[in-house]
Amino acid sequence: MGNSRLILALDVYELKKALEIAESTAEYLWAVKVNWPLIIGSGLEIITELKERTGLPVIADLKLADIPNTNRLIASKVFEAGADYIIAHGFVGRDSVKAVMELGKTIIVVEMSHPGAEEFIQPVTDRLIELANELGPFGVIAPATRPERVRYTRSKLMPGIKVITPGVGVQGGSAREALNAGADYIIVGRAIYESENPGKAAKRIYEEIGG
Ligand code: XMP
Repeated sequence: MGNSRLILALDVYELKKALEIAESTAEYLWAVKVNWPLIIGSGLEIITELKERTGLPVIADLKLADIPNTNRLIASKVFEAGADYIIAHGFVGRDSVKAVMELGKTIIVVEMSHPGAEEFIQPVTDRLIELANELGPFGVIAPATRPERVRYTRSKLMPGIKVITPGVGVQGGSAREALNAGADYIIVGRAIYESENPGKAAKRIYEEIGG
């Protein structure tokens, strides 16, 4: 749905299951995010198939963190498969990020939602935000588990760069709080795909965040 701000993190292995969940939730989503579990389990073609079946944008959450040439080799195949966005790490430096951005729309990780993010990533978030402001990606990832960090990221980030927040549901973050703190989109995985009725779970979150 064009006006939805909900992104489904489709972290299952199996192709059939992934397509079923995607189809039953599609009307409540802005986009579907695929990560390594699904790509390893079902192959890269899952991206093409998801797009055909749902008509939604696909975000490839590979968290690319390699040298520019390797990032380029990976990203070119993933964009070729139909991914609309790729998530890349910023901490590897601007040349590695630029290698992805030259090939397609990119989302840069500036902070992460798990407790360990406080060890190494959070101390350099300011510099990662500066990098994003300089390069102008589609968006950045900030943690819904720490709404104050979402607010901080939004306040430092140039207008026009989207803030996308995982960590809602099982990791403890609240969708409403993340959006109130300035997030443009929220990412939800287990709270939807582990639910007995993923369609209903997606609808509930969609309605909670006001579409
Ligand atoms: P759950 O099941 O916790 O899934 O709703 C969350 C999804 O988002 C990914 N994730 C992150 N990706 N930075 C990222 O770039 C983060 O801080 C982060 N936290 C969670 C996770 O891999 C899963 O696909």
